[in-house]
Amino acid sequence: MKSSKIIPFLFVLLIFACSDSNSTGNGEEENLEPSLRNSPTFPVGFAIQQQHLNNGNYVNILREDARSLSAEYEMKMNILYPSSSGINYEPINNFLEYAELNDTRVHGHALIWHSSTPGWLENFSGSDSEFESIVENYIRDIVSTYKGRIASWDVVNEAFSDGSGEYRNSVFYQKMGETYIEKAFQWAREADPDLLLFYNDYGTIYDQDKYLAMIRMIDDFQDRGIPIDGVGFQMHVSYNFPSLEAIENAVQPILDRGLMVHFSELDIRVNPEGEQVDFNAEFSNRLTARVEEIFGYYRTIPGQYRYGITFWGVKDDDTWLRDFWQNQNEWPLIYDENFQPKEAHQAIIDMFAD
Ligand code: G3I
Repeated sequence: MKSSKIIPFLFVLLIFACSDSNSTGNGEEENLEPSLRNSPTFPVGFAIQQQHLNNGNYVNILREDARSLSAEYEMKMNILYPSSSGINYEPINNFLEYAELNDTRVHGHALIWHSSTPGWLENFSGSDSEFESIVENYIRDIVSTYKGRIASWDVVNEAFSDGSGEYRNSVFYQKMGETYIEKAFQWAREADPDLLLFYNDYGTIYDQDKYLAMIRMIDDFQDRGIPIDGVGFQMHVSYNFPSLEAIENAVQPILDRGLMVHFSELDIRVNPEGEQVDFNAEFSNRLTARVEEIFGYYRTIPGQYRYGITFWGVKDDDTWLRDFWQNQNEWPLIYDENFQPKEAHQAIIDMFAD
C-alpha cells in the first residue's frame, strides 16, 4: 500500500479503535439485538442448576442474557466430593459443556464453604495434617483439572462470623487454623496461574466487623504476597437496604487495593415486610429502581475491576429466599415465574442503550 494511502487508512483505524467503549468487550458484533448479554459493559451472570440446562426456557434465557454462569450448588465440595472414595466431576462437566458451546464464562462457586463441607470430611477422624492434605489435594485436583476452562473461583466463601469479624469456627478453622484461607488461595494459584481467585461473603456492606476483618485479611495477603484477585459481595439485598452510599463505601476500598469486584449473588427482596400477596406495580417499581441504582453505580467502577453482576437465580420461584425467609411472597429476580422478563430486565438494557 503506497504511503500516501497508509495515513488515511491508519486514521480510520484509529477512529474505530477509539469508538465508545460501550462494546461488550467480548468480541461480539455491536449491532446485535440489545440484551443483557451484549448491552452491559460487564458480564451479567446467573446462578443455575444442572437441571436448568435441560430446560429450553432456561437455555433460551441464558443464551440471550448470560455472559457468565455460577452453579447455585452443584460445584460445591459436598456435591463434587460426596465421599472419600473420590471426586465426582460430572456436574462441572455439564456446566462447562453448556458454557463452552455458548461462549459463556464459568465462575466456580465455591472451593471451600463451611456450609457445603461433605459429611465425611466434617466428621473426619484422622489427624489435622491428613485433613489438610485432603483439602489441598481436592483444591489442586479440581483447579488443575479445569485449568483454562473455569475463569475464576470463590476460593473461600464466608470465612468470618456475623457481627464479630471472628473467623468462623468451621472444621477448616478447627483443623488448620486461619491459615486454611491463605493455603487455599496459594494452592489454587499454583494449580492454575491464570485462574482469578475471589474471596466471597455476605453482609460485608453493613456488618462493619465482618468487613474490617475481610479488609485486614486482604491487606495481610497483599503484604505477604498471598494471591487474591477479587472480592465477591454477594448482594442479597432489599429494595431499600443497604443504602447505595453504604455499597459505595464498602466497594471503594477494594478498588483502592487493586482488586476486582463481583456482585456475585444479587437478589432483591421487594417484600421484606411481607406486605402483599402478589407482585404488583409497587413491587415492580421497587425492583426496577433498585436494579437501576445498583447497575448504575456498578457501571461507574473502572473497567478492569468490573468482574460482573451475577443474579442468584433466573426466575422468582428459583429463589432460595422464599424458603430462607419462609415467605413465598417474594419476587427478587428479573424474570417472573413464567420466564417472562420484568420491567427491571428492560431497564438494564435501556441503561446501556447508546
Ligand atoms: O435439586 C435437589 C432435589 O433434586 C433434591 O430432591 C433435594 C433434596 O435433597 O435437594 C435439591 O437440591 C438442593 C438445592 O439447593 C436446590 O434446591 C440442595 O439439597 C440444597 O443444598 C441447595 O441449597 C443451596 C445452598 O446454597 C446450599 O448449597 C441453594 O440452592 C443456594 O441458593 C444456596 O446459595 C448460597 C450460596 O452458595 C452462598 N451464599 C448464600 C446462598 C444462599 O444460601
